[in-house]
Amino acid sequence: MQGKILVVGSSGQIGTELVEELRKEYGSENVIASDIREGQAEQDGPFEILDALDKNRLEEIIRKHHVEDVYLLAALLSATAEKNPEFAWELNMNSLFNVLNLAKEGLIKKVFWPSSIAVFGPTTPRQNTPQFTVMEPSTVYGISKQAGERWCEYYHKKFGVDVRSIRYPGLIGYKSLPGGGTTDYAVDIFHQAILSKNYTCFLSENTTLPMMYMEDAIKATINIMKADSDKIKIRSSYNIAGISFSPKEISEEISNYFSDFKINYVPDYRQQIADSWPQSIDDSHARNDWGWRAGYDLSALCRTMLTNLERNLLNEDKA
Ligand code: SER
Repeated sequence: MQGKILVVGSSGQIGTELVEELRKEYGSENVIASDIREGQAEQDGPFEILDALDKNRLEEIIRKHHVEDVYLLAALLSATAEKNPEFAWELNMNSLFNVLNLAKEGLIKKVFWPSSIAVFGPTTPRQNTPQFTVMEPSTVYGISKQAGERWCEYYHKKFGVDVRSIRYPGLIGYKSLPGGGTTDYAVDIFHQAILSKNYTCFLSENTTLPMMYMEDAIKATINIMKADSDKIKIRSSYNIAGISFSPKEISEEISNYFSDFKINYVPDYRQQIADSWPQSIDDSHARNDWGWRAGYDLSALCRTMLTNLERNLLNEDKA
């Protein structure tokens, strides 16, 4: 039987959709949402204000609700972290230590912690990037995620902590907005296509990056947590792959829906971050170990994004 679940960072891009899905699956009352600020999740079930750096408060919430599993999503992403390196390091690392230590003390049964394609760097092979390869991340975010992966594996081996992790690619969904990532253009482009038929992209046209539709990412997250513990052979973090595309390729797909759609390119500091990341990912370990498969290709992603966003944005207009 699934015990109670705590999602830390429930108001963010992933948290918003993960809480919704977990509540569908396990019942609203069994999924406690928490964030430093209130969000959508607060409305449909238990919600607690939590600063992920406050270990005492985290422990209090876990005890109060008899939580068994924790999904730790609070983090500063790649672009924001470059602007505030010290705080990014503090938040990304210490929030993880708070959760890992409570798990080590026996207060948490299972931990989910996301890593990222940002763990790779300019010296990593960029095509079909292997699970085990050169990892010399050049961003603050990537350094924190790589260190986090090492600590997850260490806590598993040394203290038996049941921690599970995925290296998310850029995530694209219509229900929530991303914040502070280098891959965020691939969400914003849909909003601007509908609202103004015009998009100025902060990456150059041929910058190919690994991406994934949010529904696939949520499926991967819930499935890796559901898998039997002995199937999770990698305790640092698993590569998972969805779709790889460039701004040019996604804009061509959008042009199939809006023939007057125009894109221009004004690369900024995020270009350098994108250039240090892989273009495509080999996810064979996740496929073999716990049966991972992505469902969405580029055309299904564009169709789903445009249909749903158009409805949402037009409804907002009427409201
Ligand atoms: N989407 C993230 C970012 O761009 C990568 O994990 O920062």
